[in-house]
Amino acid sequence: MIRAIHSFPRGFLWGTATAAHQVEGENRNNDWWAWEEEPGHIAQGQRSGKACDWWGGRWREDLDRAAADGHNAHRLSVEWSRIEPTSAVWDESALQAYREIVKGALDRGLMPAVTLHHFSNPLWIAEQGGWLNPAIIPRFERYVRKVVEALRDLVGLWVTINEPNLYAILAYVMGAFPPGGKDVAKAIQAAKNLILAHAAAYHAIHEMQPSSLVGLAHHYRAFWPANPRNPLDRWAARSRWRITNNLVPRALADGRFRALTWSERLPQAAGTQDYFGLNYYTVETVAFDPRQPASLFSRGFFPSGSDLSPTGFIANEPEGFWEALNWAHASRLPIFVMENGVEDGSDRLRPRYLAAHIRQVWRAVNFAWPVRGYFCWSLVDNFEWERGWTQRFGLWEVVPETQERRKRPSADFYREICKANALASDTVAAYAPEAVEWLFPPKGRMRPNIEPA
Ligand code: FCB
Repeated sequence: MIRAIHSFPRGFLWGTATAAHQVEGENRNNDWWAWEEEPGHIAQGQRSGKACDWWGGRWREDLDRAAADGHNAHRLSVEWSRIEPTSAVWDESALQAYREIVKGALDRGLMPAVTLHHFSNPLWIAEQGGWLNPAIIPRFERYVRKVVEALRDLVGLWVTINEPNLYAILAYVMGAFPPGGKDVAKAIQAAKNLILAHAAAYHAIHEMQPSSLVGLAHHYRAFWPANPRNPLDRWAARSRWRITNNLVPRALADGRFRALTWSERLPQAAGTQDYFGLNYYTVETVAFDPRQPASLFSRGFFPSGSDLSPTGFIANEPEGFWEALNWAHASRLPIFVMENGVEDGSDRLRPRYLAAHIRQVWRAVNFAWPVRGYFCWSLVDNFEWERGWTQRFGLWEVVPETQERRKRPSADFYREICKANALASDTVAAYAPEAVEWLFPPKGRMRPNIEPA
């Protein structure tokens, strides 16, 4: 076996990511809680309930775990419906509680990255039309100012909105998130308002805290043509790619919003990222299908023979992550990997998934690309939206009924990586022996790319 140590730059951030509604519990005043109460929305009728009981104080023990596991950063989100339970009414005790959590992270040596919107909305916002109503833009800005005022002495890295692309699609086209829309035109309207709300937040945060780093978390999904020689498959993959991946970042780069059939200038959005936040999970192959007009005349599936997660949600295809990093690097901004991980209650796949994906990050830093940190999704199992508790993304297992935590081997594997600030073949051999030859090809397999003289 080849022995190798893939080292990361000094100061590289290693952490995990969580989101308020998924871990706090008892978030009764948002659209997700209401959505969970209606039958048919969540797998097996499950509910967030107490979630991981972070609001009840268990963030302390979980952040202890993160610190003991060698992490030096943590990404969390604050819940708008707690901070502003009704319009312009502020709950100072909620802000105080978030100060405590963020201070708690800092005290444990975890640099906090704070997300201001991660999929959930206060009920009063939802009742006023949610992201379809442009009035949300100044309201979001007002809320952001309140949060920044409360936390700016503790937080310097802000994620305004999590995955606006996926959020618009799931809430307004697929009907999987509240309000359960199935209308592409509405998704485009929501996407535009999300971009404008991000831009308003970006400018507000910089006005209040000029030195801060502000960006958002883009979800990137790789789309590969099922048959690369078939121009129709290539067209279908390209169309999905453009709509899913490129609409939001292009608008944030050059201030032009390119919808399906029209385009509009949004000058206030241009240049509103100090870093590029990247969430990546998997790849999809795409075949042209004239019978599927609603999904852009295409069918998506995982590459044949791929290494699939237990619930068939994610294919372990690290080349898709390399593509995502390339795409993020085109922005010429520093990059933070804000989410990456796999659902795997058995923890059989996770170690090799993490090894293979972290190796792609190493490839990027090795080219001196400015990748500054990596946040694994997630620290603990948590409430996975419409998939409820059926998917387990945690480095630590959570039994929601008893709130018991059990360490998965991946937590130890990730600790070795964080502590060494490196991915070493010996560590991979200990935790994902089946991946060693794949990730560290034996001598002789790699032919030097040199022509004999
Ligand atoms: C991302 C979400 C995150 C979590 C992971 C698995 O799209 O941002 O909240 O659900 O997927």
